Amino acid sequence: ELGPYSHFMQKEIHEQPRALTDSIEAVIDSNGFDVELFGDEAAGTFRDIDSILILAAGTSYYAGLTAKYWLESIAGLPTSVEIASEYRYRVSVPNPRQLIVTISQSGETLDTMEALKHAKSLGQTQTLSICNVQESAIPRASKLVFYTRAGAEIGVASTKAFTTQLVALFILTATLAKQRGVLSQAQEHEMLEALRQIPASVQHALNLEPQIREWAKAFANKQHALFLGRGIHYPIALEGALKLKEISYIHAEAYPAGELKHGPLALVDENMPVVVIAPNDALLEKVKSNMQEVRARGGQVYVFADLDSHFGESEGVHVIRTPRHVGLLSPILHSIPVQLLAYHTALLKGTDVDKPRNLAKSVTVE
Ligand code: F6R
Repeated sequence: ELGPYSHFMQKEIHEQPRALTDSIEAVIDSNGFDVELFGDEAAGTFRDIDSILILAAGTSYYAGLTAKYWLESIAGLPTSVEIASEYRYRVSVPNPRQLIVTISQSGETLDTMEALKHAKSLGQTQTLSICNVQESAIPRASKLVFYTRAGAEIGVASTKAFTTQLVALFILTATLAKQRGVLSQAQEHEMLEALRQIPASVQHALNLEPQIREWAKAFANKQHALFLGRGIHYPIALEGALKLKEISYIHAEAYPAGELKHGPLALVDENMPVVVIAPNDALLEKVKSNMQEVRARGGQVYVFADLDSHFGESEGVHVIRTPRHVGLLSPILHSIPVQLLAYHTALLKGTDVDKPRNLAKSVTVE
């Protein structure tokens, strides 16, 4: 069942080009963002909404944080993202015109299910589930459903489910923008093209595995690591830190790079490896200067850049370049190297990669 791979996690990381292809198939086939993709009632529902609230846990929550950037900048919809277990116990101000989007790989996460029930009890009846398991509890309790087609995910650490959630959220963004009349034909074409290219670009990123395996040696003997990103790549820094914590048991934290000087910079010395997610985007120059703050304190910097971000290696600055710049879908592409870094670090440490201690695949308790 594992084929040439050592663990389900490694296999699932490598299945991502296929998982992404399957998850975008309907869009590519119809050559556009058809509202029906979200179910019969989607057209009416999407017409009535004025904002979005995303509820999820763990990695799925980070997919939601990424989507906020797309939904606000492309669809113009105010979007909040909240951890399900926090939302359900908080007194909030319900808005019946808000679309509640739950994201859950398993569709059975109790915290997310209870958050959905709580939203409904407040009269928030416009609900959409993004889920990887057909007919599981959360989609069954939702008005609209979009299934990702990652296939069964067995490794406890989520990988292919995460990147397929991201494409689902990108498709949702384009569909909402189109329906609201704020998506030009040129933009629709650009977003379709971005989706068409992503499986091949991800394959190119997977080919970086030997280089990343080398880097893992510098992490396996450390107690701590810091992950930095800005803007739409900050959630990918969070995801990278979570992956490393979960499977290698190395304490890792993620920060938006601009926050560094407001506290965490005090942690940086030569024993703190710092991973920087730095593809070419509007904030790249800012990220570069944040990186200098780390270098000035002796921190070793490991940069995941892309072809367009023009990073040179220098003393203490290690760079791996993903072979393409993929614009809006860049968070998907940059998920790959952080997954591989966590995987190879855990492998060197000899931890149980597919079943890390204390964790369960589907968290059906509070
Ligand atoms: C991390 C991970 C967890 C899950 C979280 C939500 O690798 O797997 O953080 O993402 O427990 O699970 P789902 O998406 O099934 O609701």
